[in-house]
Amino acid sequence: MKISFDTAVKLLRSGQVVALPTETVYGLGASFTSQDAVSEIYRLKNRPQTNPLIVHIASFDDLYKLTTSVDETVETLCKAFWPGPLTLVLQANISEVSSTVRANLPSIAIRFPSHPLMQELIREVGPIVAPSANLSGKPSSTTLAHIENDFGNDFPALETTSLLRGVESTILIQEKDAFVLGRLGAIAPEAFSPILGYTPAFSKKEGAICPGSMHKHYSPNAILESALEKALDHDTILGYSDRTYKNGSRVIYLGSSDQPERILQNLYSSLRKLDLDGVERAFIDMDLPKVGLYQTVLERLERASSKK
Ligand code: TXA
Ligand code: MG
Repeated sequence: MKISFDTAVKLLRSGQVVALPTETVYGLGASFTSQDAVSEIYRLKNRPQTNPLIVHIASFDDLYKLTTSVDETVETLCKAFWPGPLTLVLQANISEVSSTVRANLPSIAIRFPSHPLMQELIREVGPIVAPSANLSGKPSSTTLAHIENDFGNDFPALETTSLLRGVESTILIQEKDAFVLGRLGAIAPEAFSPILGYTPAFSKKEGAICPGSMHKHYSPNAILESALEKALDHDTILGYSDRTYKNGSRVIYLGSSDQPERILQNLYSSLRKLDLDGVERAFIDMDLPKVGLYQTVLERLERASSKK
């Protein structure tokens, strides 16, 4: 249910959960100070208690207040990528950040989103805790219809008219000597190398990954396969507008194969469309280069198609 900005402020202040736009995907937001609302997020999403939440801020002051490990590199990263789709996992200021937000970890995931509505909300109500606005395991929401599909038509949502990036923020985890990737997202890992002097990669250390990445994720109900040659006539294929596919197949176009940003924008809507159309089996064209934002596309497609 579409609500106004003022209603969103009122609901957040009174400890309720509201769906909110960030520049990446919609979030399920609660005031950082409302313990009840933060717990309600876990319940609404059916999210494991072991999966911590991202805290959204709109000033560098809050970065210093909520974390204890900001150094020169963190500052340079923040100046380069904030506001924007970068989440940093830093040491939490335990006395300021509740254990429910952190899922009892000593760290905090923090980001400064660029969406003007989200920034204005944070200025009104303070930091906002928000995971993506989807049921746990399902594709994130990029439209009001997605939110209503997951949480019902009456669920309060602040809608935006601007086009979202369609995929979540990139997560970098601060380790002792380097940053490692926690999650691929809207910023390509290579984009960090001018600042870090290296391209961050996933850590080889066991467990050094975002807890959320260990769960089944981004999956529609349909069984997804990558072996396009097995597609039969009238099977559905997720593909690219600059390529041709088997005659008779229905193709859902993710965009042109040379525009990874556009593919990401369409990705979750297309995965959700499979469920809306009742598709039981679909094929995905995964023939893309393993560089830049294509890595995010491929990772999400692989997760969506992993065996259930
Ligand atoms: O673009 C985004 O990041 C969106 C918008 C709404 O901000 N949010 C989002 O939140 O994708 P969520 O909850 O769907 O994913 C957050 C990820 C999870 O995989 C979680 O495990 C990880 O961040 N995370 C949160 N706190 C962490 C921490 N302290 N250490 C490691 N990973 C953490
Ligand atoms: Mg999520």
